[in-house]
Amino acid sequence: MPTVMITGANRGIGFELARRYAADGWRVLATCRDPAKADGLEAFAGDVHIHRLDVTDFARVDALAGELEGEAIDVLINNAGISDMPKERVEGVDYDRWAEVLRVNTMAPFKISDAFAGHVAQSETRIIVAITSRMGSIEMNPGGDYAYRSSKAALNLVMKGLAGDLRPHGITVVVLHPGWVKTDMGGQGAAIEVDESADGLYAVIAGLGPADSGRFFNYDGSELPW
Ligand SMILES: NC(=O)c1ccc[n+]([C@@H]2O[C@H](COP(=O)([O-])OP(=O)(O)OC[C@H]3O[C@@H](n4cnc5c(N)ncnc54)[C@H](OP(=O)(O)O)[C@@H]3O)[C@@H](O)[C@H]2O)c1
Repeated sequence: MPTVMITGANRGIGFELARRYAADGWRVLATCRDPAKADGLEAFAGDVHIHRLDVTDFARVDALAGELEGEAIDVLINNAGISDMPKERVEGVDYDRWAEVLRVNTMAPFKISDAFAGHVAQSETRIIVAITSRMGSIEMNPGGDYAYRSSKAALNLVMKGLAGDLRPHGITVVVLHPGWVKTDMGGQGAAIEVDESADGLYAVIAGLGPADSGRFFNYDGSELPW
């Protein structure tokens, strides 16, 4: 069966994606920064393997890539992310938090994609995904949320670059907006349930091919403006 690796798989969208792939018989490499908080992952049936990974610990990223050497990863999903709560106004920017948001949301997906590109290249499917946000769209930006928006805009840019750089290896790279989802990050006032988001993302990923590399999709399969 194919293999998927998902970061931040202990809760929210990452957790639901892990459950979805496991239910369909995939081998799931579920990473989270604290496996002690991943008891939900252990509870569902399937070929699920939990690996400790704080995505900002780049030495650990390299170590995990080494531990998994020889393992083909069909789909790599960079899902772990943080927001810039409390919401920023122009005069209220927390620059230390901004740097942290950039490290988690932008640099870590780049580092992980680079470290695991060889594993993905060994697979049949060869897909790398980053869960971005429409809040990273420059065209749709009304202002505010500077840290989060800039981190996702920069994520979109680096994944677009990787799409070009990894094309010779047959790897398809896309960024996907999961919708406004009822998770700890999205809040209970969000528009959609987490299973609707995960089902949509799963279907979009299943339909991807090389011609889609470097594109920005919504969870319903529609294309979003950069
Ligand atoms: N929810 C929405 O409406 C929405 C909308 C657009 C985009 N997104 C994006 O979707 C992705 C998932 O969001 P979510 O709503 O599921 O958020 P969530 O419920 O807050 O879950 C975030 C996940 O990321 C993990 N994480 C955070 N920092 C990490 C780190 N340094 N190392 C490893 N894991 C880390 C968390 O792990 P811990 O449990 O250890 O903190 C958790 O598993 C994010 O990239 C987010 O930006 C969400």
